[in-house]
This record gives sequence, C-alpha cells and structure tokens, in this order.
Amino acid sequence: MSALKTTQSLLEYQCASFQCTTQCTTQCTTQCTTQCTTQCTTRRPWRKILNTTDPTDPTDSTASTGLNKSRFALARIGSVGIGVPPRVLLNSDMEKLVETSDQWIQERTGIKQRHIVDPGVTCSDLGAIAAMDAINKAGLTPADIELIIVATSTPDMMLPATACLVQNKIGAKNAWGFDLSIACSGFLYAMQVGVQFVATGAHKNVLVIGMDVMSSIIDYTDRQTCIIFGDGGGAAIIQPSASEEDGCFLDFLYEVDGSGGDYLCIPGGGSLHPPTHETIDNRMHYLKQDGPVVFKFATKRMPEICVRLLQRNNLTGADIDLFVPHQANLRIIKSAVDRLGLPMEKVIVNIDQYGNTTAGTLPLALDSAIKQGRLKKGDLVLFAAMGAGLSAGAALMRWGY
Ligand SMILES: CC(C)(COP(=O)(O)OP(=O)(O)OC[C@H]1O[C@@H](n2cnc3c(N)ncnc32)[C@H](O)[C@@H]1OP(=O)(O)O)[C@@H](O)C(=O)NCCC(=O)NCCS
Repeated sequence: MSALKTTQSLLEYQCASFQCTTQCTTQCTTQCTTQCTTQCTTRRPWRKILNTTDPTDPTDSTASTGLNKSRFALARIGSVGIGVPPRVLLNSDMEKLVETSDQWIQERTGIKQRHIVDPGVTCSDLGAIAAMDAINKAGLTPADIELIIVATSTPDMMLPATACLVQNKIGAKNAWGFDLSIACSGFLYAMQVGVQFVATGAHKNVLVIGMDVMSSIIDYTDRQTCIIFGDGGGAAIIQPSASEEDGCFLDFLYEVDGSGGDYLCIPGGGSLHPPTHETIDNRMHYLKQDGPVVFKFATKRMPEICVRLLQRNNLTGADIDLFVPHQANLRIIKSAVDRLGLPMEKVIVNIDQYGNTTAGTLPLALDSAIKQGRLKKGDLVLFAAMGAGLSAGAALMRWGY
C-alpha cells in the first residue's frame, strides 16, 4: 500500500464527515485531491494538512517541512515496554475462590492464567517499570520525556493523577502529565492524544502508559468477572516520524455509547454514590458487568469499527500484516477476526497468559508481537479496542523497526 492511497482515503473521509456539499462528497470518491480542494474552500486548512504540500502557499502549515502526509503520519512508536507483576493466578487457583473450572474458563474465555500484584503494589509502580523498560529500549533517559499520559481505571488514588506519581518515580524531571480514563479502550485513545502532541511539534518524546491493577476493583466472589481480569500493562514512546519508512500512524477511529454505561461499571465510590458503609456492604466499589450484553456489544462493534477504518483507507483485511486486538475474550477476538477475513497467524493473542488487563492489553500484545518476532519494519498494523463506556476504537499504523 502506498502513502498516496492512504492520503486519498483520508481526504474522502474528511469531505464526508465535515459536511461538504453533496457534489463535493461525490467527487471526492474519485477525484478528491483536485476537485474537492477547489470547492470546499471553507475546509481548506484541513485539506492542506492532509493534501500534498504547496511550498508557494503561505497558509500551508506543512509547506516548510516538505512532508507529504497526514498529521498522524508525523508520529511513530519508538519503543514498547511492559510492567507485569510476577505472581500468577492459575485457573486452578480460581477454582478455589469461586464455583468454576479450568475447562469452563478456557472454553468460554481462552484464559489460562493472569498476573496479580502482591499487596501494596500499585498502578504507578507497574507504570514506572513499564516506563523505564520503554525508555531504555528507546535509548533515552527519563529526562528526555516531556509528557506522560497514563490510561488507567485503577489509579493509585483518585488524585493526584497516576502520571504525576510515575513522573516522580522515574525522575522524569522535564515532564508534565495527566491521566486518561476510558477503561479498556484507554491505551488506544491515549495513543492518539500522544500522537497529536508530537504531530503538532509540541513534544518529541511522549510516554503513553496503559496500566491497570484490576485486582484492586474485582470482587473475588463474582465468578462472572473475577476469572477474566488480571494486572499489568505497558508503555510506548511516541516520537516524530521522518517518513513512512520510519514507521508512522495512519488513522484512528473511535466511538462511545454512554447509554450502555451501566453494563460495565463501578457504581460506588464516585460522586453518584460516594463511599459509605452501605456502598461497601453492597459491594458497590467493585466492577460490575452484564457479561452477555458486553459480549454482544464487543462482537458487533469492535469488528464494525475496524471495517469502517479500513474502508475509509481503501483497505481490506487482506492488506493487514498484523491485527492487535484488545484481549477481552478469545471468542470476541475470533469473531472480529472472522469478520475481517484474517487468518489467525496474523493475530496477536496473549489472553491465555495475562487475562484482560483493561488498559494494559494493547501494549502487552504489542510487546508479545515484538518478542515473538511477529512485527517487521513496514508492516501494516491494525489495533482494535472496546470496553466500558461503552466504547470502541481502532487504529492503523505502519510499523517502523
Ligand atoms: C463473562 C462471560 C465470559 C460469560 O460467558 P457466557 O458464555 O456469556 O456465559 P453466560 O453469562 O451466558 O453464562 C452461562 C452459564 O455459565 C455460568 N457461568 C458464568 N460464569 C461462570 C464461571 N466463571 N464458571 C462457570 N460457570 C460460569 C452462568 O452462571 C451461566 O449458568 P446458567 O446457564 O446455569 O445460568 C462472557 O459473557 C464475556 O466474556 N463477556 C464479555 C465480558 C468482557 O469482555 N468484559 C470486559 C470488556 S473490556
């Protein structure tokens, strides 16, 4: 796939989504670059970003760089690190906690084991380990990090932000940071936020962490949830990309449907039900889910958003070299894989080892892909996520190393 193919499809999408005239939208499907630019004068700044540069145009913000690519393509993943607690909870251990069986868990979820923290180990502890792993692999020092974004639903405390705690633990004295909360979709959403800070030229090294200590919010008497989740996650450093060969992001697509919020939530402890003896007695501080409803959402919306992202980039599943999906349930992954028409050899699955680590699954899956030698320079990678919100997302990137 060429960079031009991607650029053209982005143009088509922009025209449609930014409500240009019907005439323009029609023309965009075939002749976007020339005809649309003329007609959609009000959208010109967007088009100039996504279109080829025009060194003679003083309004063209990309002209000085000489780069011919979308804003997303100005950023890449420079390295990936992980933070996983060593202690393992096997399915046979779950059998001692709730009425379940290794066979049921494996057949219904694909999970064999999950990692669980020892008492006192926090999200920022694991985040700092993942951060240092990524920083070392990128050949950087903590002082090089300018921004830290932590995607998590299990912060050490409600405040301060876990990003501040990680900043202090790793000694990233030049970094600012914040947390981002969108549960299992967190790492994917945080990646785009990080990409935009790099693409605008604001920062050169952005540390994006996806990390959860799910054992801190899991009710180990609820067999429907406790068998699924584990602790851990990872980090990626987002850096400027000089060219598509260097690796770069290509496109992102997200959706949320807040009407499904009750199906996967922690009802107590927030401003709706501040903690009281009653909320604790009613176990409202634990994660609650309607498994079958979430399952249905995931099997429908995760593949759908992938297909939409592929289509607007003139791609199909056949173009994808590696699919990195959120690890919620092996059956959810397989249904997305079927819908995309992908062979399982092109799919990263490590849910058997880690369970669902919420914001941690995607960096852990990327790490597995790298360690298994499943990623090579130039590969087209499709990410997919879904989770509480309800939320979903997909991203496309060209792998650079
Ligand atoms: C939770 C989930 C694994 C349950 O699997 P399922 O096939 O949908 O199972 P159901 O909830 O329909 O339950 C089927 C039966 O298994 C039982 N069951 C549920 N959990 C069980 C467990 N851990 N062990 C044994 N039996 C279990 C149920 O009680 C039910 O029994 P019944 O038929 O006698 O009533 C599945 O719904 C799921 O993965 N949902 C998505 C959850 C998710 O991804 N959450 C995170 C989103 S990021």
